[in-house]
Amino acid sequence: MADLDRYAVLGQPVGHSKSPRIHAAFAAATQQTLRYEAIEVAPDAFAERLSAFHAEGWAGFNLTVPHKQAGAALCESRSEAAEQAGAVNTLIRTATGWHGDNTDGAGLLRDLLVNLGVTIKGKRVLVLGAGGAARGILAPLLAEGPAELAISNRNPWKPEEIAAALKPLGNIVPRTHLSLKGDRYDLILNATSAGHSGAIPRLPPKLFADGGVAYDLNYGQAAVPFLVWAKGEGAARVADGLGMLVEQAAEAFQRWRGVRPETAAVLAGLRG
Ligand code: ATR
Repeated sequence: MADLDRYAVLGQPVGHSKSPRIHAAFAAATQQTLRYEAIEVAPDAFAERLSAFHAEGWAGFNLTVPHKQAGAALCESRSEAAEQAGAVNTLIRTATGWHGDNTDGAGLLRDLLVNLGVTIKGKRVLVLGAGGAARGILAPLLAEGPAELAISNRNPWKPEEIAAALKPLGNIVPRTHLSLKGDRYDLILNATSAGHSGAIPRLPPKLFADGGVAYDLNYGQAAVPFLVWAKGEGAARVADGLGMLVEQAAEAFQRWRGVRPETAAVLAGLRG
């Protein structure tokens, strides 16, 4: 029997996840009754657990590291955003399985455009890193009409592969970090995982254009090294990815519950 009020985030590790707190706040603010928990699932048990969760009647899931790509393959259908990202972060129950969606890109755009007032249209935008996090945000960024969208990594192979795969959607310029010397960007997004080990990618100096913005998809301690570097390099504004986390959650909540919760108070609460 389906329990249409039962949700969770699946990951490994997942104990640190802020999603239960965010969704509890959304539920309270929209007067919805639901349960949302964090469940640790190992990669080798993931496929089996997903079928079991369906049989047990769960209504939906968020997926976090390391399940986003594997989740895409296990869904019986996927949204366009999920197809473009090659990853899913939101599972929606259907009668026979799971529909996969990806709200990370929409969450990022909402945080940049609405919360932070950053312009993408006509601007030079650089994405650092070429893993799943980077790949997931390229199509939504491209759709905003930047003057240039570049993706840079330590070696050229992954950016070239990603640019080729997304060619039908528009032009993405594949780069390496070291080859960026002499270029200037209005918006630089850190989508590497370097911050989790206290590091930043090795980058040439003077990458920020006047008024340039730095955005780290990570939040908390993991965002500190890049944002400190960006300030030192003269970025006019810096922001971590906590706003993206709250906004992607709001998008997921809307898909599940049909109502988009207000995010400002929840974000302020998390920052406080
Ligand atoms: P995610 O799914 O979070 O994107 P991932 O697929 O492991 O994780 O990708 C991590 C990204 O961070 C990669 O682009 C990786 O660069 P490489 O492809 O060269 O490995 C990048 N990264 C991780 N640690 C880094 C570091 N210390 N300096 C620069 N880039 C780093």
